Amino acid sequence: MDQKNIRNFSIIAHIDHGKSTLADRILELTDTVEKREMKDQILDSMDLERERGITIKLNAVQLIYHAKDGQDYVFHLIDTPGHVDFSYEVSRSLAACDGAVLVVDAAQGVQAQTLANVYLALENDLEILPVLNKVDLPSAQPDVVKEEIENLIGLDCSDAVEISAKSGLHVDQVLEQIVHKLPAPKGNNDAPLQALVFDSLYDSYRGVIAFISVKNGTIKPKDKIRFMATGAEYEVIDVGVRTPKEVIKSELVTGEVGWVSAAIKNIEDVRVGDTITKVEQPCEVALHGYREMNPMVYCGLYPVDNARYDDLKEALSKLKLNDASLRFEPETSQALGFGFRCGFLGLLHMDVVEERLEREYNLDLIATSPSVIYHVYKTDGTMLEIDNPAALPPTQNIDHIEEPYVRAEIMVPKDYVGAMMDLCQKKRGEYIDLQVIDDLRMNMVYELPLSEIIYDFFDKMKSYTKGYASLDYHFSGYKTSALVKMDILLNGQIIDALSTIVFKDFAYNRGNAMTIKLKDIIPKQQFEIPVQAAIGGKIIARTNIKALRKNVLAKCYGGDISRKKKLLEKQKEGKKRMKKVGSVEIPQEAFMAVLSMD
Ligand code: GTP
Repeated sequence: MDQKNIRNFSIIAHIDHGKSTLADRILELTDTVEKREMKDQILDSMDLERERGITIKLNAVQLIYHAKDGQDYVFHLIDTPGHVDFSYEVSRSLAACDGAVLVVDAAQGVQAQTLANVYLALENDLEILPVLNKVDLPSAQPDVVKEEIENLIGLDCSDAVEISAKSGLHVDQVLEQIVHKLPAPKGNNDAPLQALVFDSLYDSYRGVIAFISVKNGTIKPKDKIRFMATGAEYEVIDVGVRTPKEVIKSELVTGEVGWVSAAIKNIEDVRVGDTITKVEQPCEVALHGYREMNPMVYCGLYPVDNARYDDLKEALSKLKLNDASLRFEPETSQALGFGFRCGFLGLLHMDVVEERLEREYNLDLIATSPSVIYHVYKTDGTMLEIDNPAALPPTQNIDHIEEPYVRAEIMVPKDYVGAMMDLCQKKRGEYIDLQVIDDLRMNMVYELPLSEIIYDFFDKMKSYTKGYASLDYHFSGYKTSALVKMDILLNGQIIDALSTIVFKDFAYNRGNAMTIKLKDIIPKQQFEIPVQAAIGGKIIARTNIKALRKNVLAKCYGGDISRKKKLLEKQKEGKKRMKKVGSVEIPQEAFMAVLSMD
């Protein structure tokens, strides 16, 4: 295939604007997937993705398009996620492309992540092709939205196709525009190999599979390759593409996007963003790698069954390979035993990782409440980075604490500006700016503590604005705050995994709310359990969990053994995600109680 007939592109959009649906239609129209094999959102291959209806991992497929000019074109389509937590995935996939199809919902218009994704595409020098989706909806206003795109993004929309990804209307025109408006890859097939690793996964038989975009040169079996950042060297076993089925090819040439397998057993050798070259004829410089994404949220993950610590460790290593922004290191908790402190990009990311560990690796886990990274300045002049409240030094040794702030841009209909300002104020936000977008919408700019955002800001925002607001945020810096550590005591014993760092003025309310919530969540036991919240040894709130009176078997009148078994089983099931700390059984929800607190 001639290089000028290759097109490498991503579909970018705000969440739910229809990327995956458009990708499905493109696969159908190019006969990449036969109709009978087609299930909705075929690129979302993880069960979790299909259940939640969101795209988490990017996926690359090769497809052949017979264009109206009579020629065949090879498309490499890379689907990307839209949620703010996964913007690192977007930037990785974009670096493998030359162009991007920008999908905008014609009923909703430009949203916060439409803009954020466009910026990422522009940073990667991509040609952008705007497309208006969902024109079948009665509320669609394609002309208004086109004007919005022109004004806000500066993209010419005179030729923008109006489609319904759902029905397939005009999707064929999008394919033609991909051919005529997006550029072919520029590299040189005769130059030394330069291939960008943009994703990888672990296969238990073949080892690490690296997904690559060949920017220069060619790669084929038996080639001796080097990963430039890690220096690791391997001999290529197979190369190929996904259609989306895996297909083995004799070689991958410049401009192609596919996979390489080389019996790589050491997971650490393959880093996303690294460049692969040949040992014998290396390229001079590595490709511009990806932006390193730093985790913003940390939590502890512990196996419910302590004996499965090593399994958890292995699962995390494998998952990390597939998820470059995941971090983890061993930690111990007096309450929970041996586990790992893990870093995530945000709460959804944390949730997804936890769920993947449980499903794909069959682990039962306890996750502690999430925390941001605090800068703790001690009286001796040193600074500690603390991502675990339990590790905070004693108050007398602390001079001051800084916490991370984000600059948040919230696009919201005018009618809800007041309500959103209220919410931002409540969450300790500092007003920066209020910009008019058009007759109906405003863009609010606030600086907010990240810790407030990760708790329940997103859900609150949706309920304050009936779902009309959209949010994008970036880390903006550290600021000093009046923060204190709040401990929780059960039965007089501090449970380290339940400690949190809170804003001083919120401490009493949170302490109260937390003890009440724990009282509801922790099951009654044979004895009364005091639940207390304390700051620096001073108790600020207290409730009691009353002692248990009946046991579950009391209902069974001794007779029916199968019913008895069922009840016991049910009780066991409920216990699965419980951890016995001292004499008290604590369920998983207790560690997350702080998230739903106000
Ligand atoms: P993420 O993968 O989560 O980022 O979302 P996405 O942008 O891929 O959106 P997706 O394709 O999952 O579509 C979101 C919802 O919009 C689904 O319920 C689709 O059925 C619906 N949808 C997509 N395209 C159209 C369309 O053209 N018309 C209508 N009416 N609904 C559509």
